[in-house]
Amino acid sequence: MKALILSGGSGTRLRPLTFSQQKQLIPIANKPVLFYAIEDVIEAGADEIGIILGPNKEQVIDTVESRSWGVPIEFIYQGNPKGLAHAILVAKEFLDDDFIMYLGDNILRDGIVQHKERFQRLKSDASVLLTRVEDPQRFGVADLNPDGSIRKLVEKPKVPPSNYALVGVYFFRPSIIEACSAIKPSWRDELEITDAIQWLIEQGYKVDASLVEGWWKDTGKPEDILEANRLILDDISACNEGQINESHVIGRVIIEKGSLIERSTIKGPCIIGKGSVISDSYIGPYTSVGDDCRIFGTELEDTIIMDNSTINKAGKIVESMIGRNVRIREGIALPKGNRFIVGDNSDISL
Ligand code: DAU
Repeated sequence: MKALILSGGSGTRLRPLTFSQQKQLIPIANKPVLFYAIEDVIEAGADEIGIILGPNKEQVIDTVESRSWGVPIEFIYQGNPKGLAHAILVAKEFLDDDFIMYLGDNILRDGIVQHKERFQRLKSDASVLLTRVEDPQRFGVADLNPDGSIRKLVEKPKVPPSNYALVGVYFFRPSIIEACSAIKPSWRDELEITDAIQWLIEQGYKVDASLVEGWWKDTGKPEDILEANRLILDDISACNEGQINESHVIGRVIIEKGSLIERSTIKGPCIIGKGSVISDSYIGPYTSVGDDCRIFGTELEDTIIMDNSTINKAGKIVESMIGRNVRIREGIALPKGNRFIVGDNSDISL
């Protein structure tokens, strides 16, 4: 079985982080979101992976190639994001076999093995994953028959027919390519995968729905990323490969190679990346500090700090996402006051 992972798109809801970084590369517990998808499809037995690329294609290629995955990976350039079904059409030469389609900004706690087995056992033509959500308007939504089969799928309906959202993982056969060619762009000018699956249903193909029981996150917005970070950190086990001097480390904390913790308190669950220095600070629960960061005289809680950032005497920072190569420091010059050099679409609470 092949896998197609979508790592294109422009990530507008995650600006300013996505001005310089493709959204699927944003780290959750210090690992790019995209890597969770790659690991899941490999665990489910994918023996060839195609990755759809958008505007920041080099970044995605470099990040994926920084690891060895043990299965061949082909990069497929989509260009502008014209929809999930458009991505399938762009990849149609690659998709000559049954395949898993996995949206590269989705994370599922329990992986996809059982759903893949169900797809193969039932010999369905397509299978979608559904889960109950409180805000179905944000997603594709399934209208179900009393026996649990799908009556209809609708994309981001104003009045949802149920609270069963479509999770961003699908199992298809090459018949989906014909469906993607048959549909027209939606009101948002995208070729919607929901419409293509609806086309399969209307043509009499067997489309199954498999329920996701463990947590699932679409990391489309900053609060979703912080929530996914909390959920992943909830499952970590403690591991210390760094150096700890005159500090308290409480609970499940991962301290990676080459990091130094001095005169600080670290309270898990949290992770400190490689080569980072934490001095005279408090790192509280649900915090991920990336590689080569410097945290001095600061309190952090429920926050993601990406690689190579320095935070010096910045008071207490909570529920925040801080990009790479950022410097935050106490102002020393007069007049006193908050000083900012902040890019477009930033979001600051004082
Ligand atoms: O996350 C689940 C939802 O994903 C489903 O409930 C919806 O039915 C489905 O349409 C999709 O909705 P989103 O609005 O969240 O899709 P988004 O535009 O965020 O794209 C999902 C991923 O696919 C994201 O990682 C970017 C990538 N993508 C997106 C488009 C439109 C591409 O690679 N190419 C594209 O053309």
